[in-house]
This record gives sequence, structure tokens and C-alpha cells, in this order.
Amino acid sequence: MTNKILIAPSLLAADFARLGEEARAVEAAGADWLHLDVMDGHFVPNITFGPLVVKALRPHTTLPLDVHLMIAPADPYLEAFAEAGADHIAIHPEAGPHLHRSLQKIRSLGKKAGVVLNPSTPVESVLWVMDLVDIIMVMTVNPGFGGQAFLSSQLPKVAALRKMIDATGRDIRLQIDGGVTPTTSRSLLEAGADTLVAGSAVYGAPDYTAAISAIRAPA
Ligand code: DX5
Ligand code: ZN
Repeated sequence: MTNKILIAPSLLAADFARLGEEARAVEAAGADWLHLDVMDGHFVPNITFGPLVVKALRPHTTLPLDVHLMIAPADPYLEAFAEAGADHIAIHPEAGPHLHRSLQKIRSLGKKAGVVLNPSTPVESVLWVMDLVDIIMVMTVNPGFGGQAFLSSQLPKVAALRKMIDATGRDIRLQIDGGVTPTTSRSLLEAGADTLVAGSAVYGAPDYTAAISAIRAPA
């Protein structure tokens, strides 16, 4: 595994009254992507923000905007998030009846397409869409909230996906979301992850630069 390790701070743990400033702060601190958690209070038991906020954030950073849709249905909103300035749009297979069609739609909008697997979702759910995905994300908590405990039960799943991705020969990012800290990142990187989302471990830290470095290269 030779991919550069990418760190995507999740704005969910930032100060919501200062989102633009918080986006600029993690870019200055060495972040690679900015992770944006969109929740609808229906697919997950929490509500955050929609395309208007993504659009408002766009001028504040040059980082790729990594939009994680925890909404159902997602299809009616894909265009709005693309127009708002999302660079990546990731969806859960459970959010709609036609994952393949949704991924085709995201790619037709010129965006990188991601599939997010909940803790109970099997790796096989992406097997027949590997040709359409740019990012596979493993949830290492149940989606909906930041600051939850890391689920180490997902490590064998990360390793299985690493094998599946390598077998395709395609450039697919293996991303992790939930409970990522300088302590849990080592086992994730060893299992084959190459992209780590971190909310509270970055925005809850006194020094964003030190936090991002510690997650990227665990001691
Ligand atoms: C949870 C979100 C995560 C969240 C992670 O549903 O998808 O992106 O921000 O937060 P931490 O890193 O605090 O577990
Ligand atoms: Zn997320």
C-alpha cells in the first residue's frame, strides 16, 4: 500500500457559529480534504446542514469538499450538492433502491463518487459497483454523531476492502469515518486504510496542526 495518507477533518466537531474560519484553520493546519456531514434527522437521528451551507463554505477553502450524505432519499439532492461545490459525494447503499444508478448520477455531475458502509453493511454491497466508485468509506461508529467510541470490529472489514480494491487495480480511496484518533489510526493504517476522517480528534484538540500530524503518522 503506497497511497499517501490523507486526513479529512470533519466540520461536525467545529464551532458552527464560525464555520468559514474553522474550514480555513484546518487547511492551514495541513488537512487534505474537508469532510462535511449532511444529516436529515430521518436516515440518522441528527440534523446538520444542506447545500446552502456547502455553498457558503466553498469560497473559504481550496480543500476538496468531501460531502457525506446521511439522508434518504439522496438522489433528489445530488445535483444541488454538486452545484454547491462538493468535490466528492458519498452515499449509503441503504439510502436508496438503486446504488448503481446513484453512483452513475454523481459521476455524470463530474464529481468523485463514494459509497459508505455502516458497521453492519457487508463489503459485498460494493462488489458490483467497484467500476463506479472513487471512494469507499467504512463507518467505525454508527452514523449520526461525533465523539463516539471506535468500533474495532470493523478492522477486518477494512482489510477485506483493501484486498478488494487492490484486485481492481483502480485508484479507489479507502476512507474511515468515526472514532479516529492518534491511537486508533495506527490499526486502521495497518489494515489498509489510506484516508482518515477525524472530527473531535482535530477540532477538539488545542492545536489542529499537531492533531492532524499525530493522526497521519501515529507514534
Ligand atoms: C458521524 C460522522 C462523522 C463524525 C466523526 O456520523 O459521519 O464524520 O464527524 O466524528 P468523530 O471523529 O468525532 O468520531
Ligand atoms: Zn462523516
